Order: sequence, then structure tokens, then C-alpha cells
Amino acid sequence: MWKGRFEEDTAQVVQKFTQSLDLDWRLYKHDIQGSVAHARMLEKVGLLTDAEAVQIIDGLKTVLAEIESGEFKPSEKLEDVHMNIESRLTELTGNAGAKLHTGRSRNDQVATTVRLYLRERLSNLRSSLLSLLGAFLDRAKKHRLVIISGYTHLQQAQPISLGHYWMAWFEAFLRDYERLEFASRSLDECPLGSGALAGSTLPLDRDMTCWLLGFDHPTRNSLDTVAQRDYMSDYHHFASLFAVHASRMAEDLIIYATQEFGWLKLPDSFCTGSSIMPQKKNPDVLELIRGKTGQVIGHTVDLLIMTKGLPMTYDRDLQEDKRGLFASLDTLDGILEVLPPLISKTEVDAQAARSALEKGLGLALATDVAEYLVLKGVPFRDAHWKVGRVVHYCIENAKPLTGLSLDEWKEHIPEVEADVTDILSLEKSVARRGTFGGTGFEQVALQIERGENLLKVKEAESEAAAARI
Ligand code: ARG
Repeated sequence: MWKGRFEEDTAQVVQKFTQSLDLDWRLYKHDIQGSVAHARMLEKVGLLTDAEAVQIIDGLKTVLAEIESGEFKPSEKLEDVHMNIESRLTELTGNAGAKLHTGRSRNDQVATTVRLYLRERLSNLRSSLLSLLGAFLDRAKKHRLVIISGYTHLQQAQPISLGHYWMAWFEAFLRDYERLEFASRSLDECPLGSGALAGSTLPLDRDMTCWLLGFDHPTRNSLDTVAQRDYMSDYHHFASLFAVHASRMAEDLIIYATQEFGWLKLPDSFCTGSSIMPQKKNPDVLELIRGKTGQVIGHTVDLLIMTKGLPMTYDRDLQEDKRGLFASLDTLDGILEVLPPLISKTEVDAQAARSALEKGLGLALATDVAEYLVLKGVPFRDAHWKVGRVVHYCIENAKPLTGLSLDEWKEHIPEVEADVTDILSLEKSVARRGTFGGTGFEQVALQIERGENLLKVKEAESEAAAARI
């Protein structure tokens, strides 16, 4: 391709070292898509004749068919997917093929190809992430009236609705979805026509290629276009937070499904057994989600470090941007294939969840008593101290908080009256937490309703965006 300038052939070790075929071969369809648009534009502005454009476009279709049938074996000597396709096209069409690269550099070509590819992958991710959101809503509806302990410091804190717990993850993953929308928007620009770095002396029509490829607008600065990869970082930012959320939730579910907690029932079809211990049912899927998260974060850091010291504009380092991007996309696809059905099939042993709270002597209701006293005029700090003494008494005497007589209460806290029994139940405790966004059953119902409406809107938007591609 660049022989004109050189006296020696490229050393074989250099060919092997600099090629990116093993990475970018998967981009063949999107490379061809970009080339077809480029050829049509060249024809329109008079840089190709009608006949040449037809030859190129037909030739590209042939190359595509040869690739898809496995007939076309790319060569490392031709460095990457772009040069392999162009070279095969030129074999097929001669002079016409040799004109395809008019007004184009691999720098704007690779930038366009990766954006086209990523746009498709992100569109698929959007729909799988929406399925995950749907799975949380479904579980939240099913488990809205189930009471579990909420934890802080992994110690029993206050009773909550299991529906509220699922909706907490709905919220976190919804924000991830919004980050994914942002990443989809930031890649939505067409680099073609930026050339190697400075644009072109030829009368290219950048609006036309942009329109043909369905991008929102042409990129606005040719130097910026070939130099920057922050649209990829936007994806990685989304991916990292998504993976962190998935990993953290996986950790919860693993804990809740242990014999010691014992109230979460993971679906058999999403667990594995042991080769030696017949009784084992292991949460390997969740562990692998947790285990893969480091890689996703690593790819984010990799790209940031790769770009932080690069002089403007394109530098060959950037060829490596695809390695982490593809690995991360594949990991996320894998997670999103297993997570929504796993969540949808996860069940609860409501009785076991209840007895966990009872084993804790119902002390998770202590805040309710303190707040009951506040409503009787006791300053909160006094109430906290007084209820703390009762808790101490319960622990010393192995008595549940719900099992004290009125005399026992009054002995510690004279302000307590017979109506204390009105608040001393798990159901009442949850139901009474009616602040906006709280765990009260009615509040959870409102959260679910809002979530369902939002999901419908997001689904329609995601379908419309997919249709635009
Ligand atoms: N394979 C290269 C990449 O992925 C193509 C760009 C090469 N550009 C260059 N100026 N050497 O980035």
C-alpha cells in the first residue's frame, strides 16, 4: 500500500506485530457499510462515474458474500480488515476499486467503522438492559408484600419489603441505562471526510455520507475526530458502573442464598453442583458476574491510560482501543444473557425471611419504638437511649421485643402505653414507612407503577433508535 516511499519490504515480525486483523476482522460488515456510503458520495460529487460506483458497490457485495461464506481468508500482510477488503475489491474490479479510497484515510475510516459497529452493539445492549429492568419490576410486584430484613453493615437494621429491595436495583440499573443512552448519543457523529487529520482538498459531501449512514451529524473538527476516543470511554464508563452494580447485587444474592441466611431461592437451572459434594448447589453464575467485573473496569482504565499521553492527532496506539472495547462488550452481552432470566426465576422463602428477623428477637423494630416515643413527645435522643436499654434487657433475657408485657415496658420507659402493640409487628413496621421512596407497601406500589411507565417509554425510544440504524 505504501511501497512507493520505501526501499525495503516490511519485516515479517513487524507485519505480525502491527497487524490488527485478529482484532478487527469482526468489523467487516460495518467497514463495507461505510465504504458503500463513501462510494455513493464520491459518485454524487463527480469523483467516480456512475459505472465505477456500481462496480464498487457490487464488488463490495461480492466481498461481503465471500467473507460470510468463509471463502475469503484475510491476510496478515494486509494489516487490517480495511486493507484486506479494499485489496480484494481491487482484485475484483481493477481501477474502480483503486479509486474507493479517494478522499479517505484509514483514520477516518476506522473511526467510522468502529462507531457503526458500536452503535449496533449498544442498541442490542439497550434492549437486553431493558429486559433486566423488566425482570426487577416483575419480582418487585411478586414480592411486594414479602418482608425481609434490610441490612446496614450486613447487620439486621429494619424490616423492608422485598419488592423495595428489587426496586432499589431497578433504580441503579435504570441510571446505567441512562448512561448507555448517553454513550449512544456521543458516538452518533459521522467521521467520514475528516481524512487523515485535516479534511480534504476534494469536494467531499460530508452531509451525504452522514445521512446515508444514519448518523445525527458530521463530526465538527477533523483533528478531534481522528484523535479522540472519549465516545468509547463513555461506553466504558457505563459498562464499569453496570458491572459494579451487577457484581454488588450478585454478592447480595449469594449471601442471601447461603444456609445461614437461607431465604433466597436461586433457580436450579442457574446454579451448578459439585463434583464431589452431592448436596451442593452453587451460585456460580453470580460469582462469575462478580469475577468478570474487574476486567470490565480494567478495560476502562486501559483506554484512559492509552490516550492520556498521546500527541494530537492519530497515533498507532489507538489501534489497541478495540481490544478492550470488544472484550468488554462481549462480557456485558454474556452477563445480560444470564442475569434477566436468573432474576425472573429467583424466589423467596418468606417464612425463612421472617424467622431470620425473629431469630434477631425482632430487634429490627427498635427504631419503630423510638419513633413511637417521639410521637408521644419524648425527645429522640432520650427515646434512642431508653429503647437501647430495652434492647439490652431483651438480649440479656433472650426475650423478643414483641414479647414484653406492658409492665416490662413501663419499667424501662414510663411513656409506653398499651397502644405500643399497635406498632410492634413486622407488617406494621413496613406499612408505616410511608415517606416518599420509603419501604411502605403503598410507596413500593407507587415506585413500581412509575417504573412500569418509564420502562414503556424507554422501550419505545430504544425501538425507535434501533429502527434508525
Ligand atoms: N488498523 C488501524 C487501526 O485500527 C488502522 C489505522 C491505521 N492508520 C495509520 N495511520 N497507520 O487504528
